[in-house]
Amino acid sequence: MPISREMKAELTSPPNVPRSVGRRKAKKLIVNMEILEEEGELTDGVKYVYWTFGGSVPGSFIRTRVGDEVEFTLSNHPDNKLPHNIDLHAVTGPGGGAESSFVAPGHEKTFSFKTLNPGLYVYHCATAPVGMHIANGMYGLILVEPAGGLPQVDKEYYIMQGDFYTKGKNGERGLQPFDMQKAVDENADYVVFNGSVNALTGDNAITAKVGETVRLFVGNGGPNLVSSFHVIGEIFDKVHVEGGDTVNENVQTTLIPAGGAAIVEFRVDVPGTFILVDHSIFRAFNKGALGMLKVEGEEDKRIYSGEIREGIYLPEGPGIQNMPTTDEVVESEIPAKSFDEQMKFGKQTYMQTCFACHQAEGQGIPNAFPPLANSDYLNADVERAIDVVVNGLSGEITVNGEKYNSVMTKQLLSSEDVANVLTYVYNSWGNSGKVVTKEMVEKVKN
Ligand code: HEM
Ligand code: CU
Repeated sequence: MPISREMKAELTSPPNVPRSVGRRKAKKLIVNMEILEEEGELTDGVKYVYWTFGGSVPGSFIRTRVGDEVEFTLSNHPDNKLPHNIDLHAVTGPGGGAESSFVAPGHEKTFSFKTLNPGLYVYHCATAPVGMHIANGMYGLILVEPAGGLPQVDKEYYIMQGDFYTKGKNGERGLQPFDMQKAVDENADYVVFNGSVNALTGDNAITAKVGETVRLFVGNGGPNLVSSFHVIGEIFDKVHVEGGDTVNENVQTTLIPAGGAAIVEFRVDVPGTFILVDHSIFRAFNKGALGMLKVEGEEDKRIYSGEIREGIYLPEGPGIQNMPTTDEVVESEIPAKSFDEQMKFGKQTYMQTCFACHQAEGQGIPNAFPPLANSDYLNADVERAIDVVVNGLSGEITVNGEKYNSVMTKQLLSSEDVANVLTYVYNSWGNSGKVVTKEMVEKVKN
């Protein structure tokens, strides 16, 4: 049957996807993709020159149906420095289109292909050094829907993981060049969703309402690392494993190979913030592979109660022993006799107690744990800082212009230890240099 009509493909940047193909017949689909090399922000204060398909990382989402004849034009912007091309895993043909699309700056190339197999496919640049082009952001997804389209859902999003290699270590500011040796060693400084650390957090979070069905098109550009994709607090009702036809049900974590993809679907039943992670968990909390899905709507206490009660747990039974309650703390044995000793003991407590969240240099972790280094919040009010350590803190606060809305539990430390650890914090990392005494802590406690 001859293809009757042609249409221009709608292309979208992440996390958005084009309209579904629905019931439309196979057509000639015109795709125009522009390559842009441009500076962006990998994380706060860290600049990176990305090479992109369509101006975003990952590149523009392409949505086709099986049987389409795709006429693909790749243009390489005249301001770019390098030649590029495209290998689409949805193509049946040599190099997935790479040879036919190799294009110098200021030129464009056209080729066409027929979508023979439905599925979710990765595309990427395949110009030497291939790994470097991919590491700089040259990847994206092309969806080939089956005849009649995928079943309708309420929300669809486009998410793609990638690993980045910079000359400076994670967090080092300024324009960071690509580091070939770290890439060869597979020693990533950043592992992120959608090209940067904050692409899917805070105001950039994806959203849904209670009762809605959500479909995530999840790809992995690599270049090196395999993703253990997981949404904290959700179970995937369905996973199109590796982006193909096999549907697995009731899945906690799905593997997404470098150069591969998966379609995951779930219904959201309760409100809250659900965290998307690569469950190779240091990547999530220390390298950036963390996104957020914010769900609004009615709570359903039968599905999730929240905390019902906190009790005192006495394994030996009450009355047998006098267990310390959660409010009682053991006094430290040797009181500090000088400022130097306060600093020494304070550092010990810091490295045992605070370090896990606020980090070794007090730098905190973006979007999770506020910094204690140079913290305006800390320096503004000593009594409040003592109160935070003694009684804990929850709810929204602003530290150095960034919002945090989390919970710090009360720290079970003696007044002596609180005084020492806060003295250490106040006299480190550019803070205001106050000395906190045991008496000051006791005053806040009472
Ligand atoms: C907030 C100190 C341990 C998680 C804060 C703040 C201070 C502080 C002064 C106020 C904000 C700021 O100045 O940046 C300490 C000290 C600790 C300690 C001295 C050890 C004795 C921890 C631990 C965790 C943690 C172990 C994680 C398990 C948090 C969080 C907040 C916070 C999430 C923000 C709470 C909110 O958003 O309302 N901490 N902290 N802290 N801390 Fe800690
Ligand atoms: Cu390239």
